[in-house]
Amino acid sequence: MTTESTLAATARRMVAPGKGIFAADVPLKGLVRGWWGESAHARTEEDAAHFQEMICRTAGLGEHLSSIIVFPDVLDRRAGDGTPLADLVAEQGVLLGITPTTGWQLLGGSEHEYVPRGLDGLAKRLEAWRERGVAFVKWRVAARVRTGLPTERALVSNARSVAECAALAHQFGLVPIVEPEVEMKGEHTIERQFDVTERFLHRTFEALYEHDILPEEIVLKTNMVVSGSDCPEQAGVDIVAQETLRCLRRVVPPALPGIGFLSGGQSDRDATAHLDAMNRLAPQPWALSFSFGRAIGRAPVEAWDGKTDESSGQTALRHRARMNGLATLGEWSAVAEKGNGQRQPAARRDE
Ligand code: 13P
Repeated sequence: MTTESTLAATARRMVAPGKGIFAADVPLKGLVRGWWGESAHARTEEDAAHFQEMICRTAGLGEHLSSIIVFPDVLDRRAGDGTPLADLVAEQGVLLGITPTTGWQLLGGSEHEYVPRGLDGLAKRLEAWRERGVAFVKWRVAARVRTGLPTERALVSNARSVAECAALAHQFGLVPIVEPEVEMKGEHTIERQFDVTERFLHRTFEALYEHDILPEEIVLKTNMVVSGSDCPEQAGVDIVAQETLRCLRRVVPPALPGIGFLSGGQSDRDATAHLDAMNRLAPQPWALSFSFGRAIGRAPVEAWDGKTDESSGQTALRHRARMNGLATLGEWSAVAEKGNGQRQPAARRDE
């Protein structure tokens, strides 16, 4: 019998039942600008750094989060008492992953479509991160849905870049999170979102195959199949769950351990409800988990009261992690959502 590789075991751990990934790869200036949500007091990068420390210090962080994704600068950041933030995360049994992309550039000859930057010199950076205990890297490529977009050429170029990063990651013993995202923003219908997602996933898995990447040793991060955010007709929860799975089953190899969905601008509740609905359908070949950014990060940012009220932010983070953990088991409910939503021990603030 063939034994499971270390990469495959790590990939499985990242999408273990009841757990998922927190995509906390937002720069400090992004937190200040309100990418995740508005906080009354987070106005400076110092405040934002304090917020990041608060996240890393959250007791019980690892109960429903297998992993957390950050930008490379976090590896060099220390908490107020001098402890490296990476150590705070590792102490809770949470795997650390890095987003290595360094920006975007226009696809040659295009005015509207982009490819990520950051493959140059990546091998050296991966090696250094591996030595510092990093377990995985996430490489995001994105397709916009507009009239005439995305083009086939953009899908193919982006699929190649994600496969190139995956090959390098494997070379240095890191699990790649492969992230082809079809953006949800736009007026397009759910049918169009389905078609573009199917095509992008095909191109991605073709490129992975050409790069000799075993599906067992990656985690797929992708979008749910929803109606565009500005589409007048919005598909309900059950349709989103069915269509997302119908699309994935056409393309994603059963050997893949799991899919961590991105939230893509959905409300916290919609993202959780959709994941839960999918997990209530018949068992799938892969774990259906989360790799949410905004749909986890928004609540703690909004609950956090600047530097003075860490416990509210941490309660909000634990709550969203728990709700999404339940959704990975198909056990989330509106009652659970309400019953334990104590993200704001207001009484404590008045004491
Ligand atoms: P959202 O869940 O906010 O879409 O972000 C996930 C992410 O990491 C995109 O790369």
